[in-house]
Amino acid sequence: MPDAYEWLSLIAVQQLERGDITEVTAHGRTFAVYDTAAGITVSDARCPHAGANLCLGYFDGKSVECPLHQGLFNATTGAALAAPATRPLKMIESRVQNHTVMIKIARPL
Ligand code: FES
Repeated sequence: MPDAYEWLSLIAVQQLERGDITEVTAHGRTFAVYDTAAGITVSDARCPHAGANLCLGYFDGKSVECPLHQGLFNATTGAALAAPATRPLKMIESRVQNHTVMIKIARPL
């Protein structure tokens, strides 16, 4: 069975906000790219609680705090760390290749 996923370019590493969150709209979606202490990670930009834009939240290098109700998420695993967030943040598999952040997303059918 063919791979139903593909790797797509998201943003050049040089364009990222150092130690912060960079909002990237690409491939019809909005992503949050985190420059964490442990490396670059990517999630859906929408908070799973009520849809706020996490790119506008507070980021300490490990966790992101939602700007709307202050739910807290681990920016590497997506785990919900503080109420009212209970569902995990949707993380997107990513890697850096040729100085570019790449994401693995489902191929459109
Ligand atoms: S919308 Fe993010 S915690 Fe409510």
